Amino acid sequence: MIIFKKVVALHQFITSLKQQNKTIGFVPTMGALHQGHLSLIDACKKACDVTVCSIFVNPTQFNDPKDFEKYPITLEQDMLLLTQHEMDILFLPSVNEIYPAGVHTLPHYNLGALENILEGKYRPGHFQGVCQVVDRLLNIVQPDKLFLGRKDYQQCMVINKLIELKQLPIALSIQPTLREEDGLAMSSRNMRLTAAGRKKAVVLYRTLLFIKENAFKKGIPVLIEEAKAKLLASGFEKIDYITVADANTLQEIKALGASANAVVLAAAFLDGVRLIDNLSLSA
Ligand code: PAF
Repeated sequence: MIIFKKVVALHQFITSLKQQNKTIGFVPTMGALHQGHLSLIDACKKACDVTVCSIFVNPTQFNDPKDFEKYPITLEQDMLLLTQHEMDILFLPSVNEIYPAGVHTLPHYNLGALENILEGKYRPGHFQGVCQVVDRLLNIVQPDKLFLGRKDYQQCMVINKLIELKQLPIALSIQPTLREEDGLAMSSRNMRLTAAGRKKAVVLYRTLLFIKENAFKKGIPVLIEEAKAKLLASGFEKIDYITVADANTLQEIKALGASANAVVLAAAFLDGVRLIDNLSLSA
């Protein structure tokens, strides 16, 4: 594995790979790697000649400074996992490398309705931050293919929109959510749960399953209220949202037609840790 910390050096190296007609695949991460990240890397390695992974905890996407401070950093372990996974290139930039002119004059992206609903409503500015860093990373890495996990459903849609806005020649590959044995979606944030919290956390997934199983039998608003009650009864402290939405627009749906392409999405706090998950409601 070759490690690059400087933009110029990585950019030059990638340019030489492109001159040899190598296809470049990219897996951007904020570190604290788990099997979910490794599955993205495996998909990337299968599809591309060269795989680049970045680890950069992007300050501009954290609307809550405490969340940024508490974001888990496990760099040594991450590097070991990447080496074992025969990663080709690891990009490990500093904040200065990514934002050489500081963070106050960064571009603004017109994300339309996507920006202020669901995650955007509860994490104002989050998706602008995601676009700022992903735009910069894509510019440096120049990948042919970009790999993202479906667990961050809205983020996938936002990055798709970024690719459209910038008319980038990049194919986005969205990979399925990887789950622990009990069903909890894998996430770097799970490592901040207490042992008791970790046992309860699966209720988020089970609640989404409950909605999926009943979505065509009961009214959506009633189901959502029952789901919220289940989460609170099992120890979740706060629910930002549980919503059934159109899978293509993320606009809320109150009743499902037989041909609906819908997704149920949720964000809730347990042990002070904000967990998100989603499930497709189509057959
Ligand atoms: O999903 C993440 O880990 C981050 O939001 C990303 C895409 C690496 C941008 O910082």
